[in-house]
Amino acid sequence: MAQKLYLGIDVGTQGVKGVVIDPQEQPCVIARASKPLDLISGLPAGAAEQHPEDWWSAVVEVVQKLMAAPSVSPSSIAGVGVSGQQHGSVFVDSDDQVIRPAKLWCDTSTSQQAAELTEKIGRAVPVGFTASKVTWLAHHEPEHWQRTDGVLLPHDFINLRLTGDRTMEAGDASGTGWFDVQNRCFDNSVVSAVDPNLGSKLPRLLETGEPAGRVCSYAAQLLGIPEGIIVSPGGGDNMMSAIGSGATRSGVVVMSLGTSGTVFTRTDHPVIDPEGLIAPFCSSDGGWLPLLCVMNCTNVTEEIRNAYFPNDPDALQRLTDLAAEVVPRCGGVEFVPFIHGERVPDLPHATGTITGIRPGGLAPGVIFRAALEGITANLCSGVARMKRLGVEIDTLRLVGGGSKNLLWRQMIADTLQVPITLPEEPESGALGAALQAKWSHERGEAPNLSCDAIASDRVPLKTHVIEPTRSST
Ligand code: XUL
Repeated sequence: MAQKLYLGIDVGTQGVKGVVIDPQEQPCVIARASKPLDLISGLPAGAAEQHPEDWWSAVVEVVQKLMAAPSVSPSSIAGVGVSGQQHGSVFVDSDDQVIRPAKLWCDTSTSQQAAELTEKIGRAVPVGFTASKVTWLAHHEPEHWQRTDGVLLPHDFINLRLTGDRTMEAGDASGTGWFDVQNRCFDNSVVSAVDPNLGSKLPRLLETGEPAGRVCSYAAQLLGIPEGIIVSPGGGDNMMSAIGSGATRSGVVVMSLGTSGTVFTRTDHPVIDPEGLIAPFCSSDGGWLPLLCVMNCTNVTEEIRNAYFPNDPDALQRLTDLAAEVVPRCGGVEFVPFIHGERVPDLPHATGTITGIRPGGLAPGVIFRAALEGITANLCSGVARMKRLGVEIDTLRLVGGGSKNLLWRQMIADTLQVPITLPEEPESGALGAALQAKWSHERGEAPNLSCDAIASDRVPLKTHVIEPTRSST
């Protein structure tokens, strides 16, 4: 049988990452590449934007690098999957040209619109969700809204450039605020409550696992991949990370320590939080993905790194070593980490606060440890909320850049009193996208094939387990 390879692309806030997998190999990732991205600078407080064309340029560069890798035969690529930061608003005109930069998941400048929509619709529309970005645009830039012919999410935009087709799928669509997660369809009454013209600007909604389309000749030539291969539906980065970290079956709970901090698990039924703290997302493999998201995670540790040791490439390790010397609770120093505002708890205008400083309290190790403790406390309160909603958490898988930090891993294990494991592959979003591409491809012949059957064996775990060492207080 001819070798079949799959390409996975993850468009994150800090960069685009790509992998090529050979499903016959163990581990299956045979090439990887990445390209950093920046936020647009100089915007008013709370605004966080990037230009979708910058995502596409970075995707082109990453895929070209991957196709040039000695381990990759481009003609063997049989499918592509795309993962993208959730909630971002991409507005395109009738020629599929981008009208303005995208407002991102971490943009809190539309918090007033989010509060108004929550009131109007009668259920939580958390800050960051796409709906408030639409009402913001219609109000602040009516000429842009009038020109808008299509509203897409970040990964939908990359799918559009790859295939020429505008689509959405249930996983990422459930982060818009206008999606009926229980019935996996647009909630038409909410759509028209957001804006009377929104319905006509929404793309086609894909069925579970249905490909978003096929690679068009323009994309094939630019990227150096075969024309006509499938592009799977893709999904939000958390949905794809779930596939790439083995959360394609119930019982696997994942915590991701990235620019955002998230905790999620796959269920085969919707989990609805009446207080709206846990987002009731769909997964991108036919199930559901109750998820906690906090807006302050490794972006806070980066802030501290830049403040204390800006030019030191080993700064994070240095800070971690210093923090390891500090006794837990930091002698009373507390760091409330909401420096970017916060979604959970719902405090979009919050700022970070450090209290309890006594002499020595500004030492880098103390501040770093206090920040890790603050972020961990916020994430773990979400975990407690999930437990109250009936989600069982016996063990945790840790992914994302922050999971490399040994001190932080142990702190989380100790706080939650659960053992922690790590997947071998750090790029769980890009790996999940590539695995979904294989699943979507093979479903053409075997419609009942589950994503779990494709993915879970291809997500090996590191053998080392981090055990909790003391009881939580
Ligand atoms: C989830 C969320 C973030 C982004 C990060 O609701 O907003 O995790 O997906 O890219």
